[in-house]
Amino acid sequence: MTPRAIVLVLALAAGGLVLWRIAPATTTRVQAEPPGPYAGRANPRSADASAVTAGAALFQENCTSCHGDHADGHGVAASGLTPPPADLRGSTVVPEHSDAYLFYRLSEGKAGTAMPAFRGTLDEQERWALVTYLRSLHPSSSHQPAP
Ligand code: HEC
Repeated sequence: MTPRAIVLVLALAAGGLVLWRIAPATTTRVQAEPPGPYAGRANPRSADASAVTAGAALFQENCTSCHGDHADGHGVAASGLTPPPADLRGSTVVPEHSDAYLFYRLSEGKAGTAMPAFRGTLDEQERWALVTYLRSLHPSSSHQPAP
């Protein structure tokens, strides 16, 4: 191999390494739309002020053990969980997702994480109230998930 060829091979290897490092970050994309029957569903309680209060109470009962009293991800059961429970107040998780997506997540849970499915324990009205409550934590961001 000529010195030039060696330089070329090294440059290609370095480029490959860089791409390999970047790739995982680009595959963990925000999923804007939930699958199947959850796609495109509108929150029937989005304008319902009582849903915020009801959702807050449901959150205290069902979610704070992991997500914390302040929905910041620091619940008593959070330590040791990988990935840790989402910070639903201080992060972009809620603003970046549609109501339909949030409803889907708390209905079906999240595979590969400790996030449980609440389809069997909370009825639809309760799950939508939770979505309304989560949205109320982000008053300045009207949810406009990327199409
Ligand atoms: C046993 C612990 C636990 C409980 C209880 C729990 N969660 Fe979670 N939750 C998690 C974990 C772990 C994640 C995953 C975070 C991640 O993917 O990075 C998560 C993620 C989420 C997400 C983000 C989903 C996403 O796709 O990023 C939302 C929204 C959420 N939880 C809402 C709730 C609500 C509402 C409740 C109560 C009805 C609840 N969680 C109860 C552990 C829990």
